[in-house]
Parts: sequence; structure tokens; C-alpha cells
Amino acid sequence: MRTAVFPGSFDPITSAHLDVARRAADLYDRLVIGVLSNPRKDPLFSAEERVDLIRACVSDLGSRVSVEAFDGLTVEFAAAHSAAWIIRGLRAVSDFEAELQMAHTNRRLAPAVDTVFLMSALEHGYVSSTLAREIARYGGDVSLLVPEPVIGPLKERLRPDRPM
Ligand code: PNS
Repeated sequence: MRTAVFPGSFDPITSAHLDVARRAADLYDRLVIGVLSNPRKDPLFSAEERVDLIRACVSDLGSRVSVEAFDGLTVEFAAAHSAAWIIRGLRAVSDFEAELQMAHTNRRLAPAVDTVFLMSALEHGYVSSTLAREIARYGGDVSLLVPEPVIGPLKERLRPDRPM
């Protein structure tokens, strides 16, 4: 069985992430989307919430795609699922340097695990979780940036009058 993992912060999952996940799911027998539960930044959504949002976005893909939170190294997460590939999306040249460093580091840590890059669809080239959060914070339309199941929770979480 050919298994790949798709790790990320997904705070929240964007349309760009989802496009990469769907295309990766077509390439492998099994795709495990891994939500880093302990990102350096203070996340807007808890790991459990991010997992639930992603599950709502990939529910039509069936049991080939699973979603779970993880803590620790991506290569350990890959090993725990017997995955030989790490999927990452590339939006623009600006992503490349950090991704190259990460891919080389992961390859040194786990030589049998390869990183596979999928180019983001052209229409998602500018999309990021950071931008989605910022637009939502100012009441803008996030429907082009995040999948449908994320729109409501994102708006609600950043509602200006929401009690802290
Ligand atoms: O969505 P992001 O924030 O770009 O994802 C980054 C992520 C989660 C893939 C990366 O930070 C990661 O792999 N973290 C787990 C810790 C780890 O394995 N670090 C070494 C990789 S260089």
C-alpha cells in the first residue's frame, strides 16, 4: 500500500491546501493529513477543531483519506503510518527556499522518506491561512480562500464582538 502524509498547521485549511490534498489523494492508496498540534504560533483553532474542519472538507473522499493531529517530527508521523512520502504544496518561488530546507532536513532524518511537491493551482497561488484569517478579521469575503465548511467557523471565531 502506497501511503503519503500531508503535514501542516492548517490554521485553518485553505482552498489551496484542499486542492493539494485532493490531488495527492489521487496519487496514493492512502493519504494521512497531519495537523501539527503544537505550532510555534498561537493557533486560532485548536488542533481538534482544525482536524474536524479538514474532515468536513474531505468527507467525500472516503476512507482513503484520514486526518489526525500530531506532535513531534513529521518524519516520525510518516513512520507511524508507514508512509514513504511527505506531500507539500508550492504556491510560488517564495515558498521554495523554506520547503527545500525542510525537505533536505527530513531526508537526512529519514532517508527512505521522500518529499513530493505539488504546485498549487494557479487560482490559489496567493492563498494562505494568514491571509484568510486577516480578511475574516476585517469582515471581508473569505469564500475564495477557504473551503465552504470553514467559512462559518472562521467568521464566527473572528467576530469582533465575540467574547475572548
Ligand atoms: O503549514 P506549515 O506551517 O507550513 O507546516 C509546517 C510543518 C508542520 C510541515 C513543519 O513545521 C513540520 O514538519 N513540523 C514538525 C516538526 C518537524 O518535523 N520539523 C522538522 C522539519 S524541517
